[in-house]
Amino acid sequence: MSKGEIVLGCLAPHPPHVVYAENPEQNEAFAEGGWETLRWGYHRLARKLKKIDYDAMVIFTPHWQTYIGTHFLGLPKFQSKSVDPVFPNLFRYNYDISVDVDLAEEMKNEASEAGIITKMMRNPDFRVDYGTITSCHMLNPEWDKPIVTISSNRNAHYYSAEVMNEQAGALGEACAKAIENSGKKVVLISSHSLSHRHFVTESPLPEDMSKEHIYNHSQYVWDMKLVELMREGKMKEVVDIIPEFTEQTIAETEAGGLTWMMAAMGFPDFSAEIYGYQSVIGTGNLIAAWDPNSETREIVL
Ligand SMILES: [Fe+2]
Repeated sequence: MSKGEIVLGCLAPHPPHVVYAENPEQNEAFAEGGWETLRWGYHRLARKLKKIDYDAMVIFTPHWQTYIGTHFLGLPKFQSKSVDPVFPNLFRYNYDISVDVDLAEEMKNEASEAGIITKMMRNPDFRVDYGTITSCHMLNPEWDKPIVTISSNRNAHYYSAEVMNEQAGALGEACAKAIENSGKKVVLISSHSLSHRHFVTESPLPEDMSKEHIYNHSQYVWDMKLVELMREGKMKEVVDIIPEFTEQTIAETEAGGLTWMMAAMGFPDFSAEIYGYQSVIGTGNLIAAWDPNSETREIVL
């Protein structure tokens, strides 16, 4: 069996607004559009994914929060309705998800070997979080590849952002080893926004783009600093400043997703592909990808 590999890493923000604006048949709400910069960026990345040969998507989400260990989806199917607790007016999504349980178990075992507390989620009534659904829907609306969701252990809550960074890095290395041993080609997804200060009221029409802007300028400056480092291929430096970035911008990097993905990919020193940046209720959302294949890597924006 040939060695497995990570064929792409994607930073994929999950405001439910982008699924709402797409009007897919799975979602009950209706929108008149909105957030095109993000959605068109997602469309372009989804087209790139169509040209890549891969077996499964592995996604790390801040909205499946576990306080004892890291959990992995562990049944071949999960089917239910996902309702965003904050935006039930926008997101009531009927999902039918296939899971690569073998790959999930391999990652769980490798993480356990590394001393990380782990558990498989085998409850058939478990409701898959909207972060997983939003990012996966936008990257692959056909849902024709199995996924694995990894929960986010809340080390930042228990200890500090520094401890979170260390633990997420260790988990990333374990997952990379498991992927290599599996012989599979895998796309990694880190599902979150960057800066995450947000408005506390919603405009009467959520998709009214005349109301959308970043929460404040310092959030914007922080986000752009990260984008600049990503363009320069300085991912080790990005991971090193994540604790401070997280504290200053209340960023969703607090869950560890970006650190996990970068550690799994060996902290890329090549340019990230930038697909779009836009505010959603004041938060900073960036779509980016890391393509280890220099022949297909491109400057997108
Ligand atoms: Fe979120």
